[in-house]
Amino acid sequence: MANPKLLILAGDGLGPEVMREARRILDWLHKRRGVSFDVEEDLVGGAAYDAHGVPLADSTMAKAQAADAVLLGAVGGPKWDSLPFAVKPERGLLRLRKELQLFANLRPALCFDALAEASTLKYEVVAGLDVMIVRELTGGIYFGEPRGIETLPDGQRRGINTQVYTTEEIRRVGRVAFELARKRGGKLCSVEKANVMESGVLWREEITKLGAEEFPDIALSHMYADNCAMQLVRNPKQFDVIVTDNLFGDILSDAAAMLTGSLGMLPSASLGAADAQGRRKAMYEPVHGSAPDIAGKGIANPIATILSLAMALRYSFDLSREADRIEKAVSAVLDGGLRTADIMQPGKARISTSTMGDAIVREMEQSLAAG
Ligand code: IPM
Ligand code: MG
Repeated sequence: MANPKLLILAGDGLGPEVMREARRILDWLHKRRGVSFDVEEDLVGGAAYDAHGVPLADSTMAKAQAADAVLLGAVGGPKWDSLPFAVKPERGLLRLRKELQLFANLRPALCFDALAEASTLKYEVVAGLDVMIVRELTGGIYFGEPRGIETLPDGQRRGINTQVYTTEEIRRVGRVAFELARKRGGKLCSVEKANVMESGVLWREEITKLGAEEFPDIALSHMYADNCAMQLVRNPKQFDVIVTDNLFGDILSDAAAMLTGSLGMLPSASLGAADAQGRRKAMYEPVHGSAPDIAGKGIANPIATILSLAMALRYSFDLSREADRIEKAVSAVLDGGLRTADIMQPGKARISTSTMGDAIVREMEQSLAAG
């Protein structure tokens, strides 16, 4: 059988340096576990703009369509801030999500024991935390029409975006969330603003119907998005799986990330619909951005990217054992007291991006020796 195809798009800012560490994990899997991928690399975001004048070349889009999974670093940076909207680095990322139809974005906020003290929240609030946020990724206000900036007859300008969801868009992401809840703690909280938005009313009605029809075994609750933001910092362990729209999911997942100690820890998986063989188009990326302020200094935390690779192994390549091995290695490295700057704590050893990569590879090697 041909090797599975993995497309790596490191992108901008700290993207290339954290991706370098993920590649070392891939090399290790190849050498030590006989797990091989056909890996291709290409450009996205500002890097693609500099080379091609667009944040994602059509040829790169075609490679993404042909790949079994895409691993993406980060896009954007001050260098490209003043570009017209249509060619901003972020448009490259949004085009990938939209054209690959990656409607379900899984963002697991998991607090490693060793980092419970590193969170800005109290230890007892976050220790043992394991929440999964399922964010709708190809609809809502990110893509809704009409959109734009227009000039009114009186000379004022008006900016317009549209929040819009159809029954099917809500049901397909809802189904992913219910299925995850079934494999986890059996609880799903659906989040919208049905008190002020019709799209939220529809969201609540459709999720309720779907639950009654297909998932009567799952304990379904509903929450307004503002309350959810508050509950995430007040008592995050009340949640198991959260399902929400594109914009609320963007905001709530950043908040949830900080519960885990650092944005540098949070991976994500974006999945499309399953085909006849049960395979889904998929893209994996750290939740953090390109962090231009620390890019190029060798101090970025590669863990979110490495954990994104682990998610790829689990969800796209049926390699749960190797995914577990990576996650356990990360946990062991943290237990051993090694820290990149973003998760530094008193009494721990502050290390660079590549030293963190070394340490994770070393732990994986040890897990092999231990059998
Ligand atoms: C994210 C990011 C993106 C988003 C940006 C870079 C377009 O914040 O993945 O959460 O808003 O979706
Ligand atoms: Mg975001």
